[in-house]
Amino acid sequence: MLADALPLLRQYLRQQADDGQTHVPVRPEARELLPRLASRRQAESDAARLSRTAPGPSSQPPAAAPPSPDPGSASAVPSLVLEVAGATREEKLARLAQMAEEAPAPRALGTLRGTMVFAVGNPNAGVMFIGEAPGAEEERQHEPFVGPAGQLLTKIITAMGLKRADVYISNICKFRPAMENQGNGNRKPSAQEMAACLPFILTEIDIIRPKVIVALGGTAAEGLGIPGPVGRNRGRFHVVGGVPVVVTWHPSYLLRQEQEGAGLQAKRQSWEDMLMAMDEAGLPISEKQRGFFKSRAG
Ligand code: URA
Repeated sequence: MLADALPLLRQYLRQQADDGQTHVPVRPEARELLPRLASRRQAESDAARLSRTAPGPSSQPPAAAPPSPDPGSASAVPSLVLEVAGATREEKLARLAQMAEEAPAPRALGTLRGTMVFAVGNPNAGVMFIGEAPGAEEERQHEPFVGPAGQLLTKIITAMGLKRADVYISNICKFRPAMENQGNGNRKPSAQEMAACLPFILTEIDIIRPKVIVALGGTAAEGLGIPGPVGRNRGRFHVVGGVPVVVTWHPSYLLRQEQEGAGLQAKRQSWEDMLMAMDEAGLPISEKQRGFFKSRAG
């Protein structure tokens, strides 16, 4: 019923506008209906936007995905966003980093190491990358994604026509997960460890309001409330804190695949995901970028 009324209403309003009318009389019962029509229209346009798939060149069939749109994938955790004092984004992020450093919950677990690694990059970035947790090199340098996986991420950012300083790079878990005989060994953060740090990344999202988030790997996606394998979640938009999220392969996975001589398909898919993120962020995409993997077999 409501959907049927919408085109008629639009036609009527267009006619009135063409006739130079700037106001139309609305009966009380119609006045009640209008907000419902408007919110329905907003939901439809959100759904259309969220169900868009990658614009990249793919000789592969699209990733198998459950029916989109997936409004259920919108993370329902806004209450975890923290109140942070500060006049600018820089000030708020600096204060938030201090709050993370002093936060009792992650430390109370006793399973994370002591050094806090917060984030790096542009507080006004349109693109935000989110990984899982710092590793040995990140802990040494106090900066996310500076080890081997980080070097590949930097190459990907360069291929997007950006610099590390243009984007914002962070992790869900702000401390390196501890393990026995640690040495340079790293492990994925547990769900509990990510949950203890979740308010910080959600508040970073809230402060920065990027145009798009790229969740690097299934663990990061899961930490953000997007469960399931990357192969099922990539190639479409999810929503966290009102921001569109692209899920893609973790750079460590791309490196492992490459070592096993099987990296091309995952790399191609990762690039398609980046094109999707670039498109959403309104970044220019050249023909060369669009066709990056076109001529390569695999
Ligand atoms: N992997 C991550 O997820 N984050 C880092 O900072 C480094 C490696």
